Amino acid sequence: MKNLIEKAVSTHSLTREELILLLRDSACDSELFAAADDVRRTYVGDGVHLRGLIEFSNFCRNNCCYCGLRRDNRNIFRYRIDEETIFRLVEHAVTHMGLKTIVLQSGEDLYFTQEKLCALIRRIKTLDAALTLSIGEKTAEEYQAYKAAGADRFLLRIETTDKKLYLENDPGMNWENRVECIKNLKKSGLETGTGVLVGLPGQTIDSLADDILFFKSIPADMIGIGPLIPHPDTPLARVPAGSFRLALKVMALTRLLLPAINIPATTAMETLETDGQIKALRAGANVIMPNVTLTEYRRFYEIYPGKSATGYTPDESLSDVKKRIEAIGRFAV
Ligand code: 5AD
Ligand code: SF4
Repeated sequence: MKNLIEKAVSTHSLTREELILLLRDSACDSELFAAADDVRRTYVGDGVHLRGLIEFSNFCRNNCCYCGLRRDNRNIFRYRIDEETIFRLVEHAVTHMGLKTIVLQSGEDLYFTQEKLCALIRRIKTLDAALTLSIGEKTAEEYQAYKAAGADRFLLRIETTDKKLYLENDPGMNWENRVECIKNLKKSGLETGTGVLVGLPGQTIDSLADDILFFKSIPADMIGIGPLIPHPDTPLARVPAGSFRLALKVMALTRLLLPAINIPATTAMETLETDGQIKALRAGANVIMPNVTLTEYRRFYEIYPGKSATGYTPDESLSDVKKRIEAIGRFAV
C-alpha cells in the first residue's frame, strides 16, 4: 500500500485497480492523508482560499432523491433573492468581508434566464472579485454567455459516474447530458469544477475509483466531494449517512492524481464530523466556502439537515473560519 502511495506522489497516476486497493484497505489511511497534505503544500501552498457562498434561490426543477430542494418536497419554504439584493450581498462580501471570490448557487430555477444572469454577472464584475456559478445544467451557449459576461468558474458535480446509480437517484435526468454539460463547461473556458457524493445507496468502491479517474479525464479544475447526509423529506430519508473517512479518502486520492487543482473542505464533511473541514484541510483540501447568504433565507437552503443550523451571521462565521485556519498553521487568502 505504501508503495502505491509513493507511486501516486511521484507520478500523479494510479490505475483503477490500484485506486480500488487503496480505497478498500484502511491500514495506510493516515499515510494517504499525510501524502495528500504534502502534495497540496507543494503544488498549491498553505493558503486557504475563501469563497463566499450565496444561495440565491432554492427553487429546483429537478427531483434528486437525496436533496431537500427536490421539486417534490412540499415541506420547504421556497425563496428567491432578487437581483438587487444579490448584488448587495456580493458587494458586502467583497468590500466589507474582503472575500475575493463569490459563489452564486441555486437549485435549477428557470426564473433566472440567461439575460437576467448575464446582466447580474456583468454588474458583479464591476466589483473586484472572481465569480463562480453553481446553478445546474444549461446549454453550451448559456455557459459561453456566462463566460462572455465575465463569470470565471462553474461547479457542476457529476454526483456519480455509475450511470445506473445516477439514474436511480436523479429521476428524469440524463447521465450522458450531465457529462456533456461538464465537457461544455470546460470548452467554454470557464474553470470547471465537478465532484461526487459518497454514500449513495448501492455505490461501490469500484465506482468511486471510476469517479476519480473521471475527474482526471476532464481534467477538472476543482473537485468537491461530500458524504451523503440523509434528508428526512426525501426518498433517501432512512439510508445511512455516507462515511466521512471514505469521502476523505476519495478527496485525498483526488489530490494525489490532480495535484494542482482546488479542492474544498465541504460543508457536508463539517456537518457529519466534528472538525470535518479542518481534517479535510489536512488531507488535501485548500478551499473553504463560508456562507454569506442573508441569515433570514439561509435556513431554507436545506439540501441536507444540520447544514444551516449554525445561527451565526455571515460576519461571525467568517471570523470563526479564519481562526480555525490559523490554528493549524495555514492562512486565509
Ligand atoms: N447530502 C450531502 N450532499 C448533498 N447534495 C445534495 N443533497 C445532499 C445530501 N443529502 C450535494 C450534491 C449537489 C450539491 C450542491 O449538494 O452533490 O451537487
Ligand atoms: Fe436540485 Fe441540485 Fe438538489 Fe438536485 S441536488 S434537487 S439539481 S438543488
